[in-house]
Amino acid sequence: MNLKDLYIDFFVSKGHKQIPSAPVVPENDPSVLFNTAGMQPLIPYLMGRPHPYGTRLVDYQKCIRTSDLERVGDKSHHTFFEMLGNWSLGDYFKKESIGYSFEFLTKILKIPVERLAVTVFNGEDNIPKDEVSASIWKNLGISEDRIAYLGKEDNFWIAGDSGPCGPDTEIFYFRSDDAIPVKFDPNDERWVEIWNNVFMEFYKDNDGKITELPQKNVDTGMGYERVVAVLEGVDDNYLSSVWIDIVKKIEQLSKYTYEENPTSMRIIADHIRTAVFILGDEAGIKPSNTDQGYILRRLIRRAIRHAKKLEIDENSNWEVIIANMIIDKYAKYYHELTKNKEVILEGLTNEKNKFNRTLAKGLKEFEKITSNLTTDTLNKDLAFKLYDTYGFPIELTVELANEKAISVDVEGFNEKFKAHQELSRTASSGKFKGGLAGDSEKEIKYHTATHLLNAALKVVVNKDIHQKGSNITSERMRFDFSCDHKLTDEEKQKTEQLVNKWISEGLDVTVTEMSKEQALKSGAECMFIEKYPDIVTVYSIGDVSKELCGGPHVKNTSELGKFKIVKEEASSAGVRRIKAILE
Ligand code: SER
Repeated sequence: MNLKDLYIDFFVSKGHKQIPSAPVVPENDPSVLFNTAGMQPLIPYLMGRPHPYGTRLVDYQKCIRTSDLERVGDKSHHTFFEMLGNWSLGDYFKKESIGYSFEFLTKILKIPVERLAVTVFNGEDNIPKDEVSASIWKNLGISEDRIAYLGKEDNFWIAGDSGPCGPDTEIFYFRSDDAIPVKFDPNDERWVEIWNNVFMEFYKDNDGKITELPQKNVDTGMGYERVVAVLEGVDDNYLSSVWIDIVKKIEQLSKYTYEENPTSMRIIADHIRTAVFILGDEAGIKPSNTDQGYILRRLIRRAIRHAKKLEIDENSNWEVIIANMIIDKYAKYYHELTKNKEVILEGLTNEKNKFNRTLAKGLKEFEKITSNLTTDTLNKDLAFKLYDTYGFPIELTVELANEKAISVDVEGFNEKFKAHQELSRTASSGKFKGGLAGDSEKEIKYHTATHLLNAALKVVVNKDIHQKGSNITSERMRFDFSCDHKLTDEEKQKTEQLVNKWISEGLDVTVTEMSKEQALKSGAECMFIEKYPDIVTVYSIGDVSKELCGGPHVKNTSELGKFKIVKEEASSAGVRRIKAILE
């Protein structure tokens, strides 16, 4: 029987209700792109909201972690994984939780007690040593030698920087044929962590202050891939039953064996699986240049490049063949994969075709660039060109460069990329209707200029003027605003002069986050208040302008150059339009 079924059945027999896996994109937490742990969709309930299924829950949750993307290719890293979890929402606490875990491992999975060891919280920051958990473990037959007491780095769990949290106890399994040492050493890599039981009784706020939650919860998580590998006695996750058939298929499709090139095969297997789950998710994500869509794009493109390395025939539909296997393998547990099969396969193939159109040219360009290099570092502009013109995600450039012992200015690239990405995000979220569709540094300047123009019109013409729309290209800006008359030459001239005065004053552009309410109270200007989320970013330019805005902007107005109004005309009833340029 599959580990997932055993797990669910066991906890159902202990009074838990099975809840479905939530979509990969969190519904209640805009601070992360994907669910990274089983508890993420349950945060409101850990904080005290009653859960419709009750106080004892169990599930397997689709999780995606991309912080270790570059490490995928080794034996144990994955971008997608399933987390088995059980929860008590103010119901049972340490005794039952540890008891259930111990019973499941030793009775259901039949793991001998000698192979198990645990870590327990040693106490830190006014939170006491977890003697209770230690004594429960001892009563169950775990000897003192097999208990390690560690500080908050290891045994205090929180998702990110703030949220529900608490001390945890982690369970380790001795994965080796060597004689099992009497004393447990958590740094000995033969001991692998298989389960984490968090006793979530605290809440950490954004200032780092820890308070007690209204209820004491249990949050446990067990990484499915790792435990299957452990149970099957393999030390390479990709050789377990989770992956082996897919790895075999990749061998067949390519000119190599797994032993010859395990890295590329693992990357293809992992990335295509994650892409299948993202494309098949009800969140409806497509490859793009921002947020989740960009992660998806990078995964597919990196897989394509490794398929090329393995000399897999580009026209063999390899991505469809692998994706179909993955869909079949998981369909029983994730019905959305069958439902969205067409979307998944089409999404993969479209992205493959799109990337294949520029990949060969990009590789040629890469060869050209790198053979002309006078240093051993590829600068940010060249890395950005490879991204912008040929669609090379940065890790691809880094990988290619490393193969030639060249390093890449990733930090510089990231800065450039961030400005670029924020711009496309702003455009695609429609915050500036028909506004920022492009992506150059020039457009960022124009964007800041619209804020200055908006402020200048209020001073020169009428304080009740409001922005009605804007449109920016790298050549010019267009700004629509409410106004009941055609601007006089004098008004135009004065407005232009005022904007240029502010530019020459070198005003700093600053950004702060605040609640929408606070922003409005502070008098910040905004176009469509109802379209903004509860927490907004506000851009201020010196003390002349303050607007709700997604950015990006220049850092200082001195970067703008000379502002010139080239046209003023009617746009629609009560709305005028200014076209302006920066020289
Ligand atoms: N939230 C904990 C973890 O992710 C236990 O589920 O490890």
